[in-house]
Amino acid sequence: MTTLLALACLALATNVYAAFPDCANGPLANNTVCDTSATPLERATALISLFTLEEKINNTGNTAPGVPRLGLPAYQWWQEALHGLADSPGVIFSESGEFSYATSFPQPILMGAAFDDALINSVATVVSTEGRAFNNANRSGLDFWTPNINPFRDPRWGRGQETPGEDPFHLQSYVYNLITGLQGGLDPAYKRVVATCKHYAAYDLENWMGNVRYGFDALVSLQDLSEFYTRSFQTCARDANVGAFMCSYNAVNGVPSCANSYLLQDILREHWNWTNEDQWVTSDCDAVQNIYEPHYYAPTRAQTVADALNAGTDLDCGTYYPDFLGVAYNESLINVTTLNRALIRQYASLVKLGYFDPAENQPYRQLGWENVSTPYAEQLAYTAAVEGITLLKNDGTLPLSKDIKTLALIGPWANATTQMQGNYYGVAPYLISPLMAAEALNYTVLYSSGPGIDDPTTPTYPAAFEVASQADAIIYAGGIDTTVEAEAMDRYTIDWPGVQPDFIDLLSQLGKPLIVLQMGGGQIDDSCLIPNTNVNAIIWGGYPGQSGGAALMDIIAGNAAPAGRLPITQYPIEYVNEVPMTDMSLRPSATNPGRTYMWYTGTPIFEFGYGLHYTNFSATLSAPSAASYDVQSLVAACAGAAYLDLCPFEAYTVNVTNTGSTHASDYVSLLFVAGEHGPTPYPNKVLVAYDRLHGVEPLSSQTTTLNLTLGSLARRDDYGNTVLYPGEYTLLLDVEPQSTQSFTLTGESTVLDYWPQP
Ligand SMILES: *[C@@H]1O[C@H](CO)[C@@H](O)[C@H](O)[C@H]1NC(C)=O
Ligand SMILES: *[C@@H]1O[C@H](CO)[C@@H](O)[C@H](O)[C@H]1NC(C)=O
Ligand SMILES: *[C@@H]1O[C@H](CO)[C@@H](O)[C@H](O)[C@H]1NC(C)=O
Ligand SMILES: *[C@@H]1O[C@H](CO)[C@@H](O)[C@H](O)[C@H]1NC(C)=O
Ligand SMILES: *[C@@H]1O[C@H](CO)[C@@H](O)[C@H](O)[C@H]1NC(C)=O
Ligand SMILES: *[C@@H]1O[C@H](CO)[C@@H](O)[C@H](O)[C@H]1NC(C)=O
Ligand SMILES: *[C@@H]1O[C@H](CO)[C@@H](O)[C@H](O)[C@H]1NC(C)=O
Ligand SMILES: *[C@@H]1O[C@H](CO)[C@@H](O)[C@H](O)[C@H]1NC(C)=O
Ligand SMILES: *[C@@H]1O[C@H](CO)[C@@H](O)[C@H](O)[C@H]1NC(C)=O
Ligand SMILES: *[C@@H]1O[C@H](CO)[C@@H](O)[C@H](O)[C@H]1NC(C)=O
Ligand SMILES: *[C@@H]1O[C@H](CO)[C@@H](O)[C@H](O)[C@H]1NC(C)=O
Ligand SMILES: *[C@@H]1O[C@H](CO)[C@@H](O)[C@H](O)[C@H]1NC(C)=O
Repeated sequence: MTTLLALACLALATNVYAAFPDCANGPLANNTVCDTSATPLERATALISLFTLEEKINNTGNTAPGVPRLGLPAYQWWQEALHGLADSPGVIFSESGEFSYATSFPQPILMGAAFDDALINSVATVVSTEGRAFNNANRSGLDFWTPNINPFRDPRWGRGQETPGEDPFHLQSYVYNLITGLQGGLDPAYKRVVATCKHYAAYDLENWMGNVRYGFDALVSLQDLSEFYTRSFQTCARDANVGAFMCSYNAVNGVPSCANSYLLQDILREHWNWTNEDQWVTSDCDAVQNIYEPHYYAPTRAQTVADALNAGTDLDCGTYYPDFLGVAYNESLINVTTLNRALIRQYASLVKLGYFDPAENQPYRQLGWENVSTPYAEQLAYTAAVEGITLLKNDGTLPLSKDIKTLALIGPWANATTQMQGNYYGVAPYLISPLMAAEALNYTVLYSSGPGIDDPTTPTYPAAFEVASQADAIIYAGGIDTTVEAEAMDRYTIDWPGVQPDFIDLLSQLGKPLIVLQMGGGQIDDSCLIPNTNVNAIIWGGYPGQSGGAALMDIIAGNAAPAGRLPITQYPIEYVNEVPMTDMSLRPSATNPGRTYMWYTGTPIFEFGYGLHYTNFSATLSAPSAASYDVQSLVAACAGAAYLDLCPFEAYTVNVTNTGSTHASDYVSLLFVAGEHGPTPYPNKVLVAYDRLHGVEPLSSQTTTLNLTLGSLARRDDYGNTVLYPGEYTLLLDVEPQSTQSFTLTGESTVLDYWPQP
């Protein structure tokens, strides 16, 4: 959300720090807001009742001045922590010493590739611990505008690296574990921090051929809305009890998201039961202003703020609310009830964070600098990178033979440091580039940067060939850097940029072992490298964070074994000519080859879920308990379940055997369902469960249990309803199926969840 428009917010935010109200001796001491025996709703209501109208309106923007006469401090609602505490208006790193850095994890796209929910929960717990420590030091607020949980629909999207990938089930499972880690469980007595699921909804375009996110109208079918664009948000709201949502810049079917009562009220608050008094919606930064222009949805600024507030946007990241709600009030476009509702939600959220409670009664107010960037956190940042890094090609060159002593490290990512953090990052304690890691492993390292990422011509780069010719093996680290002006900018091509492919080809002609590190957030078409037998290995390294170089080099050297899986499809370069970015539909048509592994009708270069190991695995899936099930009986057995889609179906045991004799390795079990059931066209297959086993020893086995629900088998109809259909079902274990099981559902199709109609 950092944009030219939002610079105003940044400027306004200067010197606004968190500080707690004095409930012992301050003016609020005897108010119910300070009474720990009252409910959050009672406490927040009592507080807001003390505000004048002008004080209320003044506190509707992200940089809230508080109410000085009541001893209510100023509060900055805007903190970022996409993969560690990140520079943002509310997060203030010190220049040096204590609080001058925090743990910097890989970007979500690489953590998504780990397919390890427990890892995500641990990472989120560290991030919230560090956030609390910064807050206690008056260097951060308690509300974090993370995660970005829009599915990565189109490979051109400039912000896809901020997400865990393209699959809705994967996003649901990931975000559940992330939110519970950030907030400290489902309904803790005190929230660790408040997380914010963004950008609701159907936001995945920055600026493509003049279609700009601030004014883009995403035309989305109810089927795609329910099945693809909002499933992660449903998990945030209904299942993980997230504290906040952010409405997006774009419109959905003609109505800007932040003025969209269908999205914010009918679906989010009513259908998903997001009704707690402390749950609030912020706008993306200046998205309220964008309703006026460039959406041109409301005729006046007063009507604009009224539309947003009345629809359920409680907080404005920006200044339109404080500037124009007074006019809207005078014109009777809003009323005090709605204004109070918004403020009560926000301050009830601060109540749940312990903001008004004595420090000594709370679990997180003692955290300090000793809890930031701990050895445990640093190890976790390294582990997250190792787990996500994905091996795409290997002819046996990796792991490197111990005979290799001299390495040439070449390319625009070979000595990458800050670059490894991608975007939305803070100050890391250290940044280990591949070059530094190779030196630490005692290789003799020869370095030459070679071409830049986008160097267009074919200069000779003699220094690079000089070091390459002296080395036992060559590591070329390049690819893309989608975060260079990523936000507010999409890509037009998905091939290896500039002169890099030609340069790699020339390097390969030296006939030395050559390993290509394809870095950056999205996928680019590797088909120029795959058939070249002199390109011995390809590794996708994403944005691996503070220990990224160490993780990459440990995998290359054989100190760690790769087991990441692509969380996105690697499409061929023609894809960008086959469908405009603005076409939101997932299913194939005459003008759309289909989107994601579920619907793409072409042949991917590497498919979703692809990833090699240093060993071979065989994996078997246990048989279902029956060959056939009756839909009505399955549903009847769920009587009393709060949500039918979450009602258990069957649990399957997966037995994973490492059949190799040399390398222990993790293994990710991916379970898909395919078959003829539900509306046509049928998807290729759909991910329904996954789990990561750790350290399967050579010639040994481990098992895991994959749990399916009725929702795993259901599909969406034209109205967006979730329906269990009779038909044929086949379970496929792994992308090139290691094991399959089939069964039949009989009886009548039954709706598990009715989707609200607009
Ligand atoms: C927090 O920091 C701000 C800005 O430096 C300062 O004005 C305020 O007094 C600090 N509050 C506390 C409680 O230290
Ligand atoms: C709160 O109430 C106590 C007891 O009645 C009184 O002594 C104190 O002055 C009051 N404090 C404030 C801020 O009104
Ligand atoms: C509200 O904000 C305006 C603009 O910053 C300021 O002039 C005014 O004094 C504030 N009102 C109150 C009651 O704090
Ligand atoms: C709203 O109306 C009141 C009463 O007429 C006036 O004092 C105030 O300035 C108006 N506020 C705005 C923002 O126009
Ligand atoms: C306040 O405004 C909302 C939204 O327009 C409306 O639904 C509600 O009835 C109004 N309440 C009162 C008390 O006027
Ligand atoms: C914070 O650090 C202190 C001192 O090392 C330690 O005792 C405590 O367990 C840590 N708390 C957390 C939540 O890590
Ligand atoms: C690698 O990057 C680091 C950090 O930017 C820099 O200090 C170092 O000089 C670079 N190494 C080489 C060989 O360029
Ligand atoms: C590299 O060499 C140094 C000095 O001989 C030694 O202390 C260190 O343990 C070696 N590191 C590795 C990873 O072998
Ligand atoms: C995996 O199995 C294949 C086929 O048997 C074999 O060629 C290959 O060497 C094995 N790879 C490893 C890493 O064990
Ligand atoms: C909806 O949420 C409320 C409050 O969290 C809860 O009491 C209720 O059980 C939920 N409804 C369902 C159907 O789970
Ligand atoms: C898993 O498969 C291996 C290899 O077939 C077999 O030896 C082992 O007994 C199986 N383990 C379980 C728990 O079924
Ligand atoms: C499946 O459910 C069982 C029993 O609740 C649980 O132990 C197991 O961890 C679940 N499997 C996964 C992959 O979450």
